[in-house]
Amino acid sequence: MSVVERIGAVVNESAEKTKKQKKPKKKPKPKLEAAPAVEPQPFDLNVQRLKALGVYTPADHSAQLALELRAVKRRLLRRVGFLRESGDRLTGRRGGRQKNLIMMTSTRAGEGKTFSALNLALSFAFEDQIETLLVDADVHRPKILNRLGLERGPGLTEKLADPSIPTDSLLYRANEAPLSVLPQGSTVDRLSDLFHSSEAKSFWADLSAGQPDRLIIIDAPPVLATTEAVILAKYVDEIVFVVEAGGTTEQAIAAALDEILDINPNVSLMLNRCLIGSGGSHYGSYEYYDRRDDGEEGAKSGQES
Ligand SMILES: Nc1ncnc2c1ncn2[C@@H]1O[C@H](COP(=O)(O)OP(=O)(O)OP(=O)(O)O)[C@@H](O)[C@H]1O
Ligand SMILES: [Mg+2]
Repeated sequence: MSVVERIGAVVNESAEKTKKQKKPKKKPKPKLEAAPAVEPQPFDLNVQRLKALGVYTPADHSAQLALELRAVKRRLLRRVGFLRESGDRLTGRRGGRQKNLIMMTSTRAGEGKTFSALNLALSFAFEDQIETLLVDADVHRPKILNRLGLERGPGLTEKLADPSIPTDSLLYRANEAPLSVLPQGSTVDRLSDLFHSSEAKSFWADLSAGQPDRLIIIDAPPVLATTEAVILAKYVDEIVFVVEAGGTTEQAIAAALDEILDINPNVSLMLNRCLIGSGGSHYGSYEYYDRRDDGEEGAKSGQES
C-alpha cells in the first residue's frame, strides 16, 4: 500500500470512527408507571332503597314531596345566585370562588338534615339536571353512603389530611344524573382541628371555584352537638337550618342560631315534617312524605353505617 493509499485508509477509518462516535446514544425509555385512578366510582341509583326510606326518587315527579322540594329549591337557587329575576337559570358562570356551597345543619341530632340534604341533591340532579356534589361532613354520624347503598370508602377527612389526593378519586358518581357524592372518610382524632385547618379552607374554596355551575350540598352535624358545623359556617355561602316541626324547642333553635348567625348571616330555615305550607317566616316546608292520620312516622331507615 502506497503512502497516499495508507493516509487515505487512515482518513477513512477515522471518519468512520467519528461517524460512530457522533451517533447519539439511545437513552433507555423510562418505564411508564400506571397512574393512580382518579376517576370517580360510578354507581346506579338504588331507587327501591330510596323509596323505602321515603326519599325523593326521579319517579316522584308529581308527588307531594317533589312539589314541596321545588319551592325550596327555587328559593335556594335564588339565594345562591343561580336564578335570574325572571326565574330562568343562570349558567356559564366564570371561574373563581362562587356562591355554591350550601350547608345543611340543625339544632340537634335526628331532625332531618340528611333526609333533606339527600332530597335536595337528588332533586337538583335528577329533576333540574344541575351538577350537584353531595358531601357527607357528619363524620361522627355519617349516613349518606348507607342511604344510597354505597360501600364505605375514603373521603373528606383523608382529603383534608392530605390535599394531594385528587378529589375525583374519592367520589362516587351516579350513572343516571349529574350527581357526585363525597363520603365522610374515616374518623380521626382532633376532627375540629382538621376542619379548622388552612387545608380545609383551601379545599372548600377550590371545590367552589372548580366547577362554577355546580351546587355543593354539605350534610353537616348539628350545631349544639359538635363544633364542626360552626367551623363550616365560615366557609359556606348558604346555611339551610332544618327545624323539626313540633320537635325542636324555640329555646334550642335560638341558642343554635345564635352560634352561627354571628359567623354567617345567610341562614334559611327549613321546616321539616310539618303540616303547613311554605311561606311566612320559614324557608320552606316538607309535607310529611309518608304522613298517616294516626300520626305514625313514615319510612324509617334501617341500620346506619
Ligand atoms: N320529612 C320526613 N319524612 C319522613 N321521614 C323523615 C322525614 N324527616 C326525617 N325523616 C326520617 O327521620 C330519621 C332522622 O332523619 P335524618 O337522619 O335525616 O336526621 P339527621 O338530622 O340527619 O340526624 P343526625 O343528626 O343523626 O345525622 C331518618 O330515618 C329519616 O329518614
Ligand atoms: Mg344526618
